[in-house]
Amino acid sequence: MATQRGGFTSRLGFILAAAGSAVGLGNIWKFPFEVGKGGGAAFVVMYLAFCFLLCFPVMVAEIAIGRKTQLNPVGAFKALGYKNWAIVGYLGLASGVLILSFYNVVAAWAFGYFVEMLLGNFDIGRNFSSFTQDWITVGSYSVIFMAGTAYVVSKGVSGGIEKAAKILMPTLFVMIIALIIYALTLPHAWDGIRFYLVPDFSQITGKVVYSALGQAFFSLSLGMGALITYGSYVSKNDNIVGAAASITLMDVGVAFLAGFMIFPFVFSQGIETDGGAGLIFVTLPSVFEGLGEVLGVIVGALFFLLLSFAAFTSTISLLEVPTAYMVDEKKIPRKKATWIVAIFIFLVGIPSMLSTGSVDALTHFVNLPGAGEKNFMDFVGLIASDTFLPLGGFLIAVFTAYVWKKENFNIELANGDESIKGSWLQSYVDFAISYICPLLLGLIFIITVMDNFFNVKILTMLFG
Ligand code: PHE
Repeated sequence: MATQRGGFTSRLGFILAAAGSAVGLGNIWKFPFEVGKGGGAAFVVMYLAFCFLLCFPVMVAEIAIGRKTQLNPVGAFKALGYKNWAIVGYLGLASGVLILSFYNVVAAWAFGYFVEMLLGNFDIGRNFSSFTQDWITVGSYSVIFMAGTAYVVSKGVSGGIEKAAKILMPTLFVMIIALIIYALTLPHAWDGIRFYLVPDFSQITGKVVYSALGQAFFSLSLGMGALITYGSYVSKNDNIVGAAASITLMDVGVAFLAGFMIFPFVFSQGIETDGGAGLIFVTLPSVFEGLGEVLGVIVGALFFLLLSFAAFTSTISLLEVPTAYMVDEKKIPRKKATWIVAIFIFLVGIPSMLSTGSVDALTHFVNLPGAGEKNFMDFVGLIASDTFLPLGGFLIAVFTAYVWKKENFNIELANGDESIKGSWLQSYVDFAISYICPLLLGLIFIITVMDNFFNVKILTMLFG
């Protein structure tokens, strides 16, 4: 059976593919603006701590469940003998479909910006809202992005996903380093670095801790079975804990590096750092414009190509989750399954595409008691990435520690890595998955739901 499903041909291929899933818009688009909102370095410190202390153990658990069963998230829980827990797999499928539906739209903006930069259209930043309202243009880029994603996924695990990651990830590293070196030569670059790296711990509030936690979790692609799915293609001789450590390091590394590029850019033009979602799409084009005609085009195009590549390896993993489900559970051949799922998700994404100004009812979609007015796209984001992912993570941790049980989990971890047995690392992962992860992820889920949907501000109640 394993041969029919395919698999990664090497440990490195798996690590690059999983790191590709993790490294995405979350690292380069969202991380810097969360840092800006969260008061700079204080946020970075929290983020790093959460990635390693909380998220890493969940990642190990996901990969172990996948590798043990060699199945998609729904099939995996069933195969371990817990039919009712397949609901966690279905929750993951729903999260994957919903996240990809709007993620693809933002990816399409990034790709569209790449083209605009090549054309030297630096005004695009000032015209950001008319760009996102132009649904024909954005729609065309979304079709291209989704079709590219489906093409890679349809080629299979080693021939598509692994191959793409092996080309795109090293390219991405080279691009980011080149951009950082250049950014550091700009005027006021070091003010940007100071803001980024010197923590002001007075800025840490309950809210900052909460968003650092959510950001870490999203950034590592956890809670929806993306890593159960990728883990299902890993050989029994590979070392899971070591691989998870490499994936976490790469993801954190790219997010961290992104700051060395964005903040010098932003400070070089004396622009506010708390520009929110617009920090990249509104602010950066004028930064590039300031570099002059030729250099501006080169640096601008390179930047948005980098962003598109990062998004692409993530959309691939988001599409792979429902595709693997169709292949394993519904016995549909991969090629057909991929295109069916991709078209379906594209259709689900249309309202998101229309919700940034083109259709009024979608732009002013809901008014939530706590969260206030949200457009359709942000609403889907709130449900899928902010609510479903922590819930999924909570359930995965509880399942691993108390249902599948630590003994079985540890046996799977020792496959391919005898030295993990009895090590401090294993003790830590066991401890975290049993106590820290369920507690914090459960808390995050409750806080999100109460805050946004019921306007009960638990964080304010606790921390003032
Ligand atoms: N980790 C990706 C990012 O940072 C997003 C993602 C989430 C991808 C969940 C797959 C699964 O952009």
